[in-house]
Amino acid sequence: MAKRIGVLLSGRGSNFEALAESVEAGRIPDAEIAIVVSNREGAEGIEKARRRGLDARVIPSKGLEREAYDKLVVAALLEKKIDLVCLAGYMRLLSPHFVTAFPNRILNIHPSLLPAFPGLESQRQALEHGAKFSGCTVHFVDENLDAGPIVLQACVAILDGDTPETLAERILLEEHRIYTEAVRIVLEGRYRMEGRRVLLNAPKGEGGK
Ligand code: GRF
Repeated sequence: MAKRIGVLLSGRGSNFEALAESVEAGRIPDAEIAIVVSNREGAEGIEKARRRGLDARVIPSKGLEREAYDKLVVAALLEKKIDLVCLAGYMRLLSPHFVTAFPNRILNIHPSLLPAFPGLESQRQALEHGAKFSGCTVHFVDENLDAGPIVLQACVAILDGDTPETLAERILLEEHRIYTEAVRIVLEGRYRMEGRRVLLNAPKGEGGK
C-alpha cells in the first residue's frame, strides 16, 4: 500500500511542491501526500496544495497552547493514517505529545549545516559569521529546535557577493533535492539508527521503525 505523507507548513511551500512533484514523478515511489496542514491562514503553500487537489487544511494555532494545538494536528494526521510527517517551513516547535505520536517519523528541512545556525534567518547568520560554506539539513524532529538526528546534508559555497537572498536561493535548490532523497530513504527504511547517527544504505527493512 502507498505510504502516506503528511506535510505541515506555514508559508510559501516550495519544499512541499518539490515533494509533491517528486511523488508525482515517481522519485518518491509508492507514496502519496494524504494531507497538507498549515497553522496560518493564507499560507501560499495551502493554496498550492489546493490547486493540486490535495486535502489541504488550515488549523489556526493562534491563541492555543502548544500541546492543545498539537493535539488537533496529531488527531488530523492519525485520522489520515499518516506514515511520515514532513515539516516544510513549519514555524513551530513540536510538543513531546506530537513527537511521541510519530517516533522517528517526523522530518524537517533546515537551511544550514546543522548544528550551525539553527533557528531563524540561518542564511543571514552564516553570512554574518563569515562562514565559507553553508547548506541544508534534513533531520528527524524531536522537541528541541533543529536538533534531531541528521539524515542528509548538502553543502553550498558562500560567495563574496552573496546576500542572504542570493544564498537562500542556491540553498533552496539543494533543499528540494535532498528532501526528496531523504523522504525516499526513510520511507524505504534504508537506514539504521546508532545513537544519534543515521547510518544509510542499511539493508531494506532495517530502518529504525
Ligand atoms: C526553507 O528554507 C526551509 O529550509 C525552512 O523554511 C523555508 C521554507 O521554504 N525550514 P518553503 O516554504 O518550503 O518555500
